[in-house]
Amino acid sequence: MVSKVSSLLIFGIFLCVLHWSECQNWIAFRRKHIAYSSNINCTNVMNRYPFRKQHGCKQLNTFIHAPAKTVQNICRGVMQPTDTTSIAPFRYTTCVNTFHHGHHCVYKAKTGRRVICVTCERRSPVHFVKVGQC
Ligand SMILES: *[C@@H]1O[C@H](CO)[C@@H](O)[C@H](O)[C@H]1NC(C)=O
Repeated sequence: MVSKVSSLLIFGIFLCVLHWSECQNWIAFRRKHIAYSSNINCTNVMNRYPFRKQHGCKQLNTFIHAPAKTVQNICRGVMQPTDTTSIAPFRYTTCVNTFHHGHHCVYKAKTGRRVICVTCERRSPVHFVKVGQC
């Protein structure tokens, strides 16, 4: 387990050295849009980093319930920035803001299983476009 994690980390650092900005974007994509467990509490998650905003609430955010590698494979072979529809459907949860009390934002969850549209760049998703075909 430890060696698997550390080799992934070393591979990640290696990719980052090659293409720092793209690597940052894939890391940010993972943090914002991949949640392996489908058992997420939208209100809790959306009130934490990186979703919490200085003022108001983020309107919505979609979490894909799949391993990072499976999501990354949507972009296999895609180098130039291109919106790409996944071949397989993914289970997802979209957290939608319903109201807020000052700094506390309340969300409801909308779940489903559909294809997703992501922007690919250098073989990795860098932007979540939408649920459904591009
Ligand atoms: C999410 O967590 C909050 C506080 O921890 C709780 O009040 C709320 O009921 C939870 N929501 C769901 C859908 O479980």
